[in-house]
Amino acid sequence: MALFRLPSTSPPPLAPRGHGLVLRAPVMADFPQWAELRDRSRQYLTPWEPIWPSDDLTRSGFRRRLRRYAEDISTDRSYPFLVFREADEVMIGGVTLANVRRGIVQAGTIGYWVGEPFAQRGYMTAALRALLPTLFGELNLHRIEAACIPTNAASVRVLEKCGFTREGLARRYLCINGAWQDHLLFGLLNEDFRG
Ligand SMILES: CC(C)(COP(=O)(O)OP(=O)(O)OC[C@H]1O[C@@H](n2cnc3c(N)ncnc32)[C@H](O)[C@@H]1OP(=O)(O)O)[C@@H](O)C(=O)NCCC(=O)NCCS
Repeated sequence: MALFRLPSTSPPPLAPRGHGLVLRAPVMADFPQWAELRDRSRQYLTPWEPIWPSDDLTRSGFRRRLRRYAEDISTDRSYPFLVFREADEVMIGGVTLANVRRGIVQAGTIGYWVGEPFAQRGYMTAALRALLPTLFGELNLHRIEAACIPTNAASVRVLEKCGFTREGLARRYLCINGAWQDHLLFGLLNEDFRG
């Protein structure tokens, strides 16, 4: 009996590039580099992130993370990206578009990090600049949101450099490093971006 291959209905994976960087969804082969970078950046990252699960940097923890990512991507809920330098494929950090809402909202929230050795060299600004056309283009978002703890000057600055507008302060908005913390809210509209 002849076997027929059904046309795939899922869109090709997103892999935006630009400003010397490539972004793509994580795969199992990224585990060693990811775990090493996160481990050496732990002190730098933890004040600004949710508490890490105890097995976060293990292979099985990473596998679990990838399963969750695959489900989130296939249900259009969230899109995780790792960020690599194009010239040498070194991993710099990550950006996730989370909490995608469709219908009359068409919005999502970005979160991001860079490894400590790569901080303050313009990489996250470049990564967001490379990613935004995909979020407003292929993913057809109307609005991108971000939230930062007010003392996170580097994050605030990245958002300002990328054209986000400061829209307000949400009290005790997210549980970061084990405590509910106030956050500045930022937004970028498709029309702001396209000018
Ligand atoms: C936020 C983060 C991703 C920024 O990444 P990055 O690659 O260092 O950012 P860039 O180099 O593109 O830009 C950083 C900007 O902040 C400025 N900056 C950094 N630290 C600062 C400080 N303490 N005070 C004032 N400005 C600061 C830099 O000078 C630069 O601005 P400039 O280009 O105008 O000089 C990185 O700091 C990080 O991973 N922090 C820990 C995790 C985190 O905070 N995630 C975001 C949670 S909302």
